Amino acid sequence: MKKHILLMPLDMHLHLRDGVMLENIAPLTAYSFSGAVIMPNLISPITTKEDLVAYKERIVAAAPNDYFEPYMTLFYQNYDKNFLVDVAEEITAIKLYPAGITTNSDDGVSSFDIKEMRPTLEAMSQLGIPLCIHGETDGFVMDREAEFMPIYELLAKNFPDLKIIMEHITTKAAVDMLDKYDNLYATITVHHLLLTLDDVVGGMMQPHLFCKPIAKRPEDLDALLSIALEAHPKVMFGSDSAPHPCNKKESCGCAAGVFTAPIALQLLCEIFEQFDKLDNLQTFVSDNAQGIYGICPEFKEVVLEKRPFVVPDAYSNVVPMYAGETLSWAIESVD
Ligand code: DOR
Ligand code: ZN
Repeated sequence: MKKHILLMPLDMHLHLRDGVMLENIAPLTAYSFSGAVIMPNLISPITTKEDLVAYKERIVAAAPNDYFEPYMTLFYQNYDKNFLVDVAEEITAIKLYPAGITTNSDDGVSSFDIKEMRPTLEAMSQLGIPLCIHGETDGFVMDREAEFMPIYELLAKNFPDLKIIMEHITTKAAVDMLDKYDNLYATITVHHLLLTLDDVVGGMMQPHLFCKPIAKRPEDLDALLSIALEAHPKVMFGSDSAPHPCNKKESCGCAAGVFTAPIALQLLCEIFEQFDKLDNLQTFVSDNAQGIYGICPEFKEVVLEKRPFVVPDAYSNVVPMYAGETLSWAIESVD
């Protein structure tokens, strides 16, 4: 049977939530990934060192059976330098949300005023703390990411020593932006390597494929595939796996988020094999992230096998992408 080995897979954008959801969900990623960048958009966003350290402890406690490093992030606010110096050791990045743009982002940034942001962003540059950004405006939903490009440019130009990660990019506009500035990087999800808007709302509406940013047009999908499959050195895998209880998805007013954590590596194998690029998957799913973030995860070997794997209907009360469907790769073992 055909096998494919991945070493130290990393998920550079992951939502784990808190409480019972965290306990149910964290082990699914901890099993097959060496580490993940943990999003701070809890109901009360993570903005203090105490909350961050305590949340990290809860994550580690939720996945006691596996080696797994939670790379913690703070929720962006205009922090002062002393605070950042104090917290720098505990964090891998700071995540910026425009206010109100997605789940639990009401306390995000409401104006991109460079003067106001400068002290924080200069301190982050000096301390080597990357800035991860949910890059969407509040414009027309299909244009939100493309409309955000001038803000990426403004930040990239003003803070050339700041590593800026364009999170979960979905458009050709973002792909084209990547090489314009040395300090811009990007994460790409697995669902955005598979879906266009047609898959979400072109037929019967698919709540479990609804997320922010929404999947875009075929030409956007092609642009994302082209840089992911070549494992462009400035892109990393970040699942943006975002669990919501089933009743919040299959409801009037569907929460945004696609839950992919337990099927991400299998799907990536499927995609990369389909385009005859399996040899590049290691770089996309770990090596680039190690270089960009300067992280060194402990050894973990994941063996995937080409055999049918039926995606469970649910993991506790969370429905995964492709529930009940059969994938062509399965995880055989993890050491
Ligand atoms: O679809 C999404 N879900 N996009 C985000 O940016 C946030 C996430 C969540 O936290 O549910
Ligand atoms: Zn996210």
